[in-house]
Amino acid sequence: MGRQPESVSFVGLGYVGLCTATVMASRGIRIIGVDVDEKRIEELRKGHPPFHEPQLQPMLKTVVRKRRIEFTTDASQVSDSSTVFLTVGTPSREDGSIDLTYVKKATQDVGSAIAGSPAYHHVVVKSTVTPGTTTDVVRPVLEASSEKVCGPELGLSSNPEFLAEGSAINGTLHPDKIVIGASDAKSSTTLTKLYRRIYSKSKVPTIVTDPTTAETIKYASNAFLATRVSTINTIANICQRVPNADVETVAKAIGLDPRIGPLYLKAGPGYGGSCFHKDLQALISFGRSKDYDPLLLTAVEEVNQRQASEIVNLSKKLLGSLDNCRIAVLGLAFKKGTDDMREAASVRVIDELLKNGAKVSAYDPMAVENARRILGDRVELMQDAISCLKGADCCIVMTEWDEFRKLKPSDYKSNMKTLNIVDARRIIKRDDFDGFNYLGVGLGLSS
Ligand code: UDX
Ligand code: UDX
Repeated sequence: MGRQPESVSFVGLGYVGLCTATVMASRGIRIIGVDVDEKRIEELRKGHPPFHEPQLQPMLKTVVRKRRIEFTTDASQVSDSSTVFLTVGTPSREDGSIDLTYVKKATQDVGSAIAGSPAYHHVVVKSTVTPGTTTDVVRPVLEASSEKVCGPELGLSSNPEFLAEGSAINGTLHPDKIVIGASDAKSSTTLTKLYRRIYSKSKVPTIVTDPTTAETIKYASNAFLATRVSTINTIANICQRVPNADVETVAKAIGLDPRIGPLYLKAGPGYGGSCFHKDLQALISFGRSKDYDPLLLTAVEEVNQRQASEIVNLSKKLLGSLDNCRIAVLGLAFKKGTDDMREAASVRVIDELLKNGAKVSAYDPMAVENARRILGDRVELMQDAISCLKGADCCIVMTEWDEFRKLKPSDYKSNMKTLNIVDARRIIKRDDFDGFNYLGVGLGLSS
């Protein structure tokens, strides 16, 4: 039997690890995927992803069937790989600062696995980590556990990802850039060559820099995007208080200015998801640890937290007191196209509705099961939009699912008690909804 081709390993098979590993496998690279979660590994071996992500399932099935990817809980298997990506999560500690426990543990496991191996190994930190972590935290743990020194024998890089959920596969297939933060020239060449194999046909802009700058690029990216969302939400809240003002038109117009650009200007209920809040908190905490208070970022987060009250206030405008009112919440996921509930604005809105004495029924096309784990029996979770609307005094459209765009006025009329709609994403065509009391985020009342 011939020697197996060189492999690439991923330690941590969450969104980032699994999507990147699967795409690399689909490009013909032999992949070893490691995760501590036995159940996850068992399912992955059958080609079942642990979360919903468009395009992932068929691609995973194919690479599993073709044996281009192997899954294991045994981290020592990475000793077979020339490149090992660390893709474990980096959650927040209670004070918002980054928790590097998993990164340190994964580094230690990888170091022990490659100790004694005569081959060159390149360890690549893909997990989002605060500036300096690869050099000051990962490197000493890796060197001690592998009994090697970074240099000609052992490569070390930071290589952040910029994937958005719902388009993670497409984002991996067609990245807008690759950032390589290499600790030396050999690491940089190794990673550049690997990416050339994957993106041979397209010229992806590649920034080669040092590990700390690469780590900072990732935080800067999320800080900037979150700032845009909080900025447009601020403008929306002002528009809402001015007769006839329309944030949608404002966003369209300012987006035409090339200095501003059109993306991340959708006003809504506030950002959610696994990254923006976590990474902003980590950056704020990191700044403070360096004797700098990043005031702008604190404000971005505060605007985001308060946006839930803006939504609830719209329902109060329509109903007066919410006490004992029945509110139907359409959409729970933090954005459409995912079943992810992490930091979803729906949870903040629902908490506030409940505090105001409202009774809440809720529905989401994909996230109901994940929502149940967070919301428990505090709300009535429904299996479809129509049952959710039944008997409601007000409906709040929280997530921009296409399914909700397709609801007809008659769907509301024949089920709701009173025709009050709060549209947190402005997806309802108001002209079709004559006879309804409608308030949309960022839309001033017609004078
Ligand atoms: C990724 C990045 O790694 C994170 O730093 C970034 O901020 C967001 O994207 P994500 O892929 O969403 O995180 O992580 P998550 O879905 O939490 O998955 C992490 C995986 O690593 C889990 O499957 C977990 O079981 C696994 N894990 C965790 C290990 O295999 N070993 C550990 O020691 C800890
Ligand atoms: C984000 C970053 O986009 C990605 O690069 C990073 O790696 C991880 O964090 P993700 O959280 O998957 O990705 O989703 P994204 O599409 O960026 O949306 C984040 C939140 O902002 C969502 O709740 C979304 O509804 C909200 N948002 C986004 C707005 O409210 N308005 C916008 O215009 C854009």
